[in-house]
Amino acid sequence: MMFRLLLLLPLGLLALQGQDLRLLCEQRGIKLGAAADPTRILDTKEIVYAATLGWEFNQIEPENAMKFGPIHPSQASYSFGPADTIVNFSNAVGQVVRGHTLVWHSQNPDWLTKGNFSSKELSDILQSHINTVVGRYAGRVYAWDVVNEAFNDNGTIRSTIWSDSPGIGLTGTAYIEQALRWANSADPKALLFYNDYSAEGMNAKSNAVYAMAKDFVTRKVPLHGIGLQMHLTLTPGSLADIDTNIKRITDLGLQVHFTELDVRLPVDSSGNATAAALATQAQIYHDVVAICLKYPLCTAIQTWGVTDKYSWIPSVFPGFGAALLFDTSYKPKPAYNSFRDALAQAAPVISASGLVSAASYEGNGVAPGEIVVLYGNTFGPSILQLPQLDGGKVSSNLSSARLLFDGVPAPLIYARVGQVSAVVPFAVEGKTTTQMQYEYQGVKSNAVTVPVLASKPAIFTLDTSGTGAGAILDPNYQVITASNPARKGGVILVFGTGGGAMTDNPQDGALAGVPLPQIRDTVSATIGGVDCKVLYKGALPGGVLGALQFNIEVAAGVPSGVRPIVITIGNKSSPSAVTVVVE
Ligand code: G3I
Repeated sequence: MMFRLLLLLPLGLLALQGQDLRLLCEQRGIKLGAAADPTRILDTKEIVYAATLGWEFNQIEPENAMKFGPIHPSQASYSFGPADTIVNFSNAVGQVVRGHTLVWHSQNPDWLTKGNFSSKELSDILQSHINTVVGRYAGRVYAWDVVNEAFNDNGTIRSTIWSDSPGIGLTGTAYIEQALRWANSADPKALLFYNDYSAEGMNAKSNAVYAMAKDFVTRKVPLHGIGLQMHLTLTPGSLADIDTNIKRITDLGLQVHFTELDVRLPVDSSGNATAAALATQAQIYHDVVAICLKYPLCTAIQTWGVTDKYSWIPSVFPGFGAALLFDTSYKPKPAYNSFRDALAQAAPVISASGLVSAASYEGNGVAPGEIVVLYGNTFGPSILQLPQLDGGKVSSNLSSARLLFDGVPAPLIYARVGQVSAVVPFAVEGKTTTQMQYEYQGVKSNAVTVPVLASKPAIFTLDTSGTGAGAILDPNYQVITASNPARKGGVILVFGTGGGAMTDNPQDGALAGVPLPQIRDTVSATIGGVDCKVLYKGALPGGVLGALQFNIEVAAGVPSGVRPIVITIGNKSSPSAVTVVVE
């Protein structure tokens, strides 16, 4: 992404923005989008539009160019040019594209609305339209608003050409389901959304959307998320209701995208809002962003436009405007800063299921000294941070990222967006559970309870996949491979983690020196199911305590070929998916 951005650097300098929001959103693993107009992207006299759009956002959506009328202007022909401009631009500046929209009551062409088509004909037209448009952008549009605004505010189905006048021949939400299924077969990898307005909080419309979503999830209809448009005013209604609605949607396992966020203000005849209105607007942006950040499945926030200079608001709501993050001169507004503050202050969200062995990727608990990886989508330094020594020990703080077990910071092997690797503190020994918390830039995540095991042996693999060829050397420190197989009667050096308690009072983060701490529990090994003698079972010399080395004598009776190698510590064995080649 950085490489692509560098291409845009001269444009970015024109805009003179800090890219704060985009980078912070990337750190949080969420998309920051803007609705865009391809004509403006191509307007070389106002290059600051493309610069701001490309520099500040990591997601783009055509405001109009993919709607039925613009993209399918006559029955026999499509007009892909403007939509292609958006997709090509996104590729140049490292953005993902949301597609908008396939099924809507508005912006349909006359040939369609005045064609007097039968339900059967309309069904064929829509299927072919979805297949053509979604198919063309398969792999390039990552998420689609498949159906837009299908409900009335009272929760009933809106009467439209697609639903009942005359409709495609399916009643209720069945036509929405059909559209989702067609989109899914045109691009099985695209995320498919239902998108609506005034359905952000708790009301008849959002209840209807939720009921449909729940039904679709239960019946495995390909629906992956709900788009909340978020066209807000200075009185946005109950934020608690918005929170509750997002919670119930994400509890279904569906994503939420804020798809069309703007907060319109009363403006004077020059389009200017008062400072007080701008400050209130900033608070509203802050608050709704903060709600989204509470939920790992709230994965994109998109504004309905780039700059107050070009917005749908003034023509639809005369006397209102100034609704976006950048003013008419492309300067960031107070809302931009408050959006950034919400990102900076938001607590990371973690879950115990994201915590696995760094060697086997097995979850369900940790052992003292185990090298683990925590995955998530809401945290981390944007640039990969490698381990650092602090007073001779592996540091437990990398670029303000820390992972705490019962408040004890774990030595960190690396940290990056969405991933941190650490050594579980030895102090968890003897406990049945530990409370894990991630901290980034001083803000702590939720605490999750993780079972503590006496041991959780795992062998590192050569390709770090957790299965296949183990990270195993011969006594000359040459990697064991098919051309350098383990010798029967010879010794191999096997590298792993998860040994549990060790001798010599191991210190978190210390590098192993003499005396080398040993695994306290009993250790045994088999290769190809045959018992092999364990000559050494302790700290990897020079490695961080928790990294283990096993010197294993390959028994004469081990069968030749690629054989599973299993290490058992106490009552727990390493997964048998790791192999060694035997002569
Ligand atoms: O492109 C034509 C142009 O050739 C013509 O000269 C001009 C004359 O009116 O019209 C131009 O088309 C306009 C189009 O925007 C592009 O500017 C349409 O009239 C106008 O109706 C259309 O408005 C769009 C509106 O959807 C249509 O309902 C807005 O730009 C767009 O922001 C708005 O977006 C919707 C979302 O899709 C769904 N949610 C609500 C949101 C705001 O209404």
